[in-house]
Amino acid sequence: MSLHTQPPVAAEPAAVPPLRVPTVRPGTPEDDAFVEELQAIAFGPGRFARTAFRVRERFPIDPALTLIAEVEGVPCGSVWMTPISIGGVNGWMLGPLATHPNFRKLGAGKLLAREVTKRALARGDGKFVMLVGDRDYYCPLGWEPTTLGNIEFPGPVDPSRVLLFAENKSLAASLQGPIEAWQAA
Ligand SMILES: CC(C)(COP(=O)(O)OP(=O)(O)OC[C@H]1O[C@@H](n2cnc3c(N)ncnc32)[C@H](O)[C@@H]1OP(=O)(O)O)[C@@H](O)C(=O)NCCC(=O)NCCS
Repeated sequence: MSLHTQPPVAAEPAAVPPLRVPTVRPGTPEDDAFVEELQAIAFGPGRFARTAFRVRERFPIDPALTLIAEVEGVPCGSVWMTPISIGGVNGWMLGPLATHPNFRKLGAGKLLAREVTKRALARGDGKFVMLVGDRDYYCPLGWEPTTLGNIEFPGPVDPSRVLLFAENKSLAASLQGPIEAWQAA
């Protein structure tokens, strides 16, 4: 039979690539090397000079609030939370938040920021999640600018990048004072 007379054969359906949907899970000590490498890639050697790093040097992160983002089981992002207090109000400083360059624009960063904030505030013992970051990224997620200069850092910081998430919507404008250690009840 010539090729021209063969009955038509249905084409194999094209393989549909799996959706690259990020998920999050709590971090474990086994993730430490991944997180360290990711932060080095995302922020470079200058990360140790950042003012937020100085805050974390003084007040340790809460490892119970470390989250890891994964895509198809592969770790691709992370976020840390540091318990702090400002003006007598307990809360957290969020950061560093980082997504590996190979996994960006999939929603991992926003998922990490939203989820870690939800989990922290659900504890009920802290009232805000503060961070230093880009308004364009965080304000659509619910962060609000703080009153310029109200929150005092142990180093230089652009006050227009100091943003706050809180259920009490007047807190972003009113919170004032140096960053101090979480106050035990
Ligand atoms: C910022 C970062 C965490 C975003 O991670 P991500 O997983 O790609 O974030 P998402 O997928 O949730 O969101 C991506 C969207 O945010 C936008 N975006 C990323 N960084 C932004 C920024 N600094 N300002 C405004 N928009 C930003 C992207 O352009 C993208 O827009 P699109 O959805 O319209 O395409 C990641 O780029 C990163 O690790 N950067 C280096 C470290 C850093 O700057 N961390 C933040 C410190 S505050």
